[in-house]
Amino acid sequence: MKFKKKILCIGAGYVGGPSMAMIAHKCPDYRVTVVDINSERIDAWNSPHLPVYEPGLDKIVKQCRGKNLFFSKDIENQIKENDLIFVSVNTPTKTYGAGADMAADLQYLEKTARQILKYSHSSKIVIEKSTLPVKTALTMEKILSSAKGKIKFEVLSNPEFMAEGSAMNDLENPDRVLIGSRETKSGLKARARLVEIYARWVPLKKIITSNIWSSELSKLVANAFLAQRVSSINSISALCEKTDADIVEVAKAVGLDSRIGDKFLRAGVGFGGSCFKKDIFNLVYLCHYYGLREVASYWENIIKINQYQQDRFIANILHAMFGTLAGKKICILGFAFKADTSDTRESPAIYISQKLLTEQAELTISDPRALKNAAIDLAGVKGKITYIDDPYKAAAGCHALLILTDWEMYRTLDYRKLYRSMVKPAFLFDGRNIVDYQKCHAIGFNIYPIGRKALTHF
Ligand code: NAD
Ligand code: UDX
Repeated sequence: MKFKKKILCIGAGYVGGPSMAMIAHKCPDYRVTVVDINSERIDAWNSPHLPVYEPGLDKIVKQCRGKNLFFSKDIENQIKENDLIFVSVNTPTKTYGAGADMAADLQYLEKTARQILKYSHSSKIVIEKSTLPVKTALTMEKILSSAKGKIKFEVLSNPEFMAEGSAMNDLENPDRVLIGSRETKSGLKARARLVEIYARWVPLKKIITSNIWSSELSKLVANAFLAQRVSSINSISALCEKTDADIVEVAKAVGLDSRIGDKFLRAGVGFGGSCFKKDIFNLVYLCHYYGLREVASYWENIIKINQYQQDRFIANILHAMFGTLAGKKICILGFAFKADTSDTRESPAIYISQKLLTEQAELTISDPRALKNAAIDLAGVKGKITYIDDPYKAAAGCHALLILTDWEMYRTLDYRKLYRSMVKPAFLFDGRNIVDYQKCHAIGFNIYPIGRKALTHF
């Protein structure tokens, strides 16, 4: 079959895989190829067990793979063959040298730019899909413009706003698609070519275009605003616990104001995920770089509150359980950073588990999808940890249950059965406010939700 467009994506991760699968699904006449330096990841994309769990992803990959969606290790030839190249490589927080623990580590992006330069024999449009500090396109342009001869590269910014767990729905029905370009003749032409792809399934009014720097910055700002809401509600949950106000009632009353809105107001153990913390640090670093100290400190406080919320949760457990956890068995229900994903990157469960182990608690950890990652995250951590799929088996013989992920299945567990199998007095710390806490109290639990009055039998 002759394909109308040939698209390449460099980086076959949580973003590259699902976003390219969606383009392939919506545009059967385009050939979409995804490459990665990690050959195991490519093997997994070509196997029945995809490396990323997302509801709905399996079906689309199975439909398109081998027809117009390909996962390949041959980066060199794929760069040669394709003229629209998405870059979706990782951009973690730098862990070394200048800007350590704050700036974005752009080494993978730069290596990708150099690969594109090295293997290109024709002009190309290079599309930043990774989340990047504002002005990164300039670096890309500088590297790519060192090409000799007639080859020209146009750099676009097309940040990805999908959230994990709902990625396929977010990709199919995005709130908006953002495309930034240089406002030159060639920049606008490249922009139009990218609009054409999304316009296959996204209404035109939702495809917004801007200058390239606004596009790069908007992604960081969107994540910072979302995280800000979570830290705002979590900070108020601390006040609720002191005053007998109920955070769920407060969030409802506040969120019904249409100017505020009701989303992202669920108090919990803090936000996790690969994006919020790193993107806020990225923003903070940029503000420092431009000498905006007050602005930097404003945004940095979001991270501080997130840390505080996790420390507060641990302090509450220790206080409730008579000041010692040594030798006590604690069951952690949920290790993923949110429901419907196997991803545990920056999950509050990692930090909370480490702290509980330091207190010499013994942990049994259960999660419907994330146990493999949990074992990797806690490898080498001192203490007794057991990983058990079945939540009932995991809870048996424990002194306390901790709900750390808002998996739907945890709402409907048989809490009576769980209670019966536990050591008494039995404690339930609901870090996501998902159980019927009055019912659990009536069953016999001493229950500690977030930002609501604890109900105990003491
Ligand atoms: P990821 O780590 O899952 O995937 C990145 C992939 O890029 C890895 O498989 C890695 O091997 C590959 N890679 C790195 N350098 C390469 C190179 N030179 N050539 C080929 N492949 C290379 O990361 P992710 O979660 O998919 O995130 C990618 C980018 O998208 C990041 O900038 C992230 O901030 C952003 N983002 C992520 C999400 C999310 O929900 N995960 C959402 C929106 C945006
Ligand atoms: C986020 C952004 O939502 C997405 O647009 C961006 O592209 C990538 O980063 P993601 O990290 O996948 O997506 O998940 P998200 O749904 O934003 O949740 C992040 C964290 O905040 C999770 O740990 C979640 O449990 C927590 N959260 C979210 C709350 O604690 N309360 C809320 O009300 C909402």
